[in-house]
Amino acid sequence: MSKKLVVGNWKMHGDRAGNSELLAGILAAGPLPCDAAVCVPFVYLADTAVSLAASALRWGAQDVSAHARGAYTGEVSAPMLRELGCRYVIVGHSERRGGHAESDALVADKAKAALAHGLTPIVCLGETLEQRESGQTEAVVKRQLSAVIHVLGHCAGEIVVAYEPVWAIGTGRTASPDQAQSVHAILRTQLRAATAHADAMKILYGGSVKPDNAATLFAQADIDGGLIGGASLKAAEFVSICRAAQ
Ligand code: 13P
Repeated sequence: MSKKLVVGNWKMHGDRAGNSELLAGILAAGPLPCDAAVCVPFVYLADTAVSLAASALRWGAQDVSAHARGAYTGEVSAPMLRELGCRYVIVGHSERRGGHAESDALVADKAKAALAHGLTPIVCLGETLEQRESGQTEAVVKRQLSAVIHVLGHCAGEIVVAYEPVWAIGTGRTASPDQAQSVHAILRTQLRAATAHADAMKILYGGSVKPDNAATLFAQADIDGGLIGGASLKAAEFVSICRAAQ
């Protein structure tokens, strides 16, 4: 069985001194049993690349432009991220879909731009509480994933998918292992129809993953790791979640 993947999404947190302490704390824990990465604010990528250069920990960004270059004030391109050594980039986080009106089609174009320049997009999707309570979870996640499959075609096998129910993000209210597994199984089935690599793909769970719930979530058949927000800002918690990903 391939290693699980645990990715920290720092969101808009941190400062140079604090980041270097956090990364030093993670590195001090020694080898981790999973693949691990941190997705940091753009402005800290260069520092992060230096801090992690000699380690097994990878790094990435939290968004990317769908365009490779041009008159797009404020945007950051995939070639720029690649130049800074990024391995991953998060696309379609609900905080961008919701707060910045990113459509399914734009998220798919961002994933395509990332792949075209050697980055692995971590494509986030998930339903709101209202959608879950009105029985739309399956339709919503399938629609979000199908937009990406439609644009990527056979390259869909190269992405990482992250199921993040919006109601579980930053709320302390995590999806139960059964709730998460049942959505992951739906996504795996959908991926199988699109790519021969579906069984080797990583489908991460995100939303209030903490040291005390990580192991049960990661034990589910179709949960291949986690995308961690708040708990990735504390070295001990992040390391403990990575250790739960055996
Ligand atoms: P929390 O772990 O803080 O709930 O955040 C999850 C998330 O949004 C990761 O991308």
